[in-house]
Amino acid sequence: MNIDTVSTRPFPGQRPGTSGLRKKVSVFQEPHYLENFVQALFDILPDRTGQTLVVGGDGRFHNRAAVQTILRMAAANGFGKVLVGRSGLLSTPAVSAVIRKHACFGGIILSASHNPGGPEGDFGIKYNIANGGPAPERITEAIYARSGVLSEYHIAADTADIDLETLGTQRIGDMQVEVIDPVADYAALMQQLFDFDAMRAWFAKGGRMRFDAMSAVSGPYARAILEGMLGAPAGTVVNGEPLEDFGGHHPDPNPAHATELIATMSGPQAPDFGAASDGDADRNMILGRDFVVTPSDSLAILAANATRVPGYRDGLAGIARSMPTSCAADAVAAALGIPCHETPTGWKFFGNLLDAGRATLCGEESYGTGSNHVREKDGLWAVLFWLNLLAVTGQSVDTLVRAHWARFGRHYYSRHDWEGIATERADALMAALRAKLPDLPGRDCGAGLRIDQADDFAYTDPVDGSVSTRQGVRLIFDGGSRVVFRLSGTGTEGATLRVYLERFEPDASRHDLPAQTALAELIRIADEIAAIRSHSGMATPTVIT
Ligand code: G6P
Ligand code: ZN
Repeated sequence: MNIDTVSTRPFPGQRPGTSGLRKKVSVFQEPHYLENFVQALFDILPDRTGQTLVVGGDGRFHNRAAVQTILRMAAANGFGKVLVGRSGLLSTPAVSAVIRKHACFGGIILSASHNPGGPEGDFGIKYNIANGGPAPERITEAIYARSGVLSEYHIAADTADIDLETLGTQRIGDMQVEVIDPVADYAALMQQLFDFDAMRAWFAKGGRMRFDAMSAVSGPYARAILEGMLGAPAGTVVNGEPLEDFGGHHPDPNPAHATELIATMSGPQAPDFGAASDGDADRNMILGRDFVVTPSDSLAILAANATRVPGYRDGLAGIARSMPTSCAADAVAAALGIPCHETPTGWKFFGNLLDAGRATLCGEESYGTGSNHVREKDGLWAVLFWLNLLAVTGQSVDTLVRAHWARFGRHYYSRHDWEGIATERADALMAALRAKLPDLPGRDCGAGLRIDQADDFAYTDPVDGSVSTRQGVRLIFDGGSRVVFRLSGTGTEGATLRVYLERFEPDASRHDLPAQTALAELIRIADEIAAIRSHSGMATPTVIT
């Protein structure tokens, strides 16, 4: 194998965010841009020689070209073997599963998750370590530091493209490239965790489901498992073909973006169960007939019912949720007598808790749910968990949720996103809010809401002692209502302010209010205290979920 050593100059800003490096496709297409980042990654992995790497992506525009580049660079940088998904496809949770099952050194995932794709859309790259989880900050910061001083990269020269459509082993020089079925290992893992017989019986008895893969990578997984292994009727999975531009849609499973699915799930003829997943298949949305389950409730309900499912029959060691996720899971943990950990936003913060056996289930308000079976959130896993519960209880989605509220109380919840704020304005808003914090505790905001605690969330990892500060401003009211403010870490244009609103209602006779009504006073208080309208120059949030 001939290796080209190519001179290059650092690109500014190759700092991985909440979940990898995300930029416009046009940025990734600039000569050397991807190569620089990949070389920076390889350079900080000195023990990579002879190791096995996993590579795959969500199929968005530029996926195939990037896979070929990475394969050539892996060969030139001494890797022994790469496992790559057929067609260059692997979902994020599948990469995690493959790394763990085959004890690989790490994996590269090409995805910008739920961000739109296509030539005008976004592209992304993230690195996962040997436990199958996202690289911790110590590694992403090292990549960033290296990217700032890089002067050359190494890439195999004069080699033909790998045939990504044919399963089996090919070579680039000494390095083996094995094209694998992207679904097989993942499906086998799901079979270990869930009661496939019960779910098959649910479909056989006429249970009806609609899974919207949003033209992203979950399609092949959902088709193979739901329609293949579980016998769901053909057509249960819609938008099941991964498209480079996701069909022009925004592959984000929430009521604002999955409008087609929401429409299908309304009315007496609607299926019993609806679900959707995002670009790289790690997010999930759960729906019943005329009923939307919030991600925070979903986590709590899965936790409360975990022992009904084979993989969790022995109970849970603990639960973990991100700070802005509602406290519904805390109520379940308290009842089960297990800890509920509160971490900063970002799945990577769950890694240590999972590795140390301190948490079994994890979840985030941003439509992420998962467990210790992999080290990523896992969209289809959550859907199968729900399906397993529907199958073994014989109940509907809304009956399960209402019973849960009746037992634990309801945590009304909503997130208001203010997208596309100029970065300076958003920063000014947060700075002003932080400056106010010392004066807020004790303030009476009207409508019986008194601020008990106001702070900027900081987290000390109980396993490795690492500290993360400035993770979001929290206003906690007497009685447990909360308003949380933070800036998104995943956008690629301007800033997005996220306002998370939560109100606890123990009284079952008051569990049927529309969420925005139940939260109206908190919405008013959030705007008053953070002066959102004046800082942003906007009259209303752009997305409400
Ligand atoms: C990604 C991460 C999640 C995180 C989310 C937050 O999806 O994988 O773990 O919750 O980003 O995004 P935000 O835009 O709120 O920073
Ligand atoms: Zn995702």
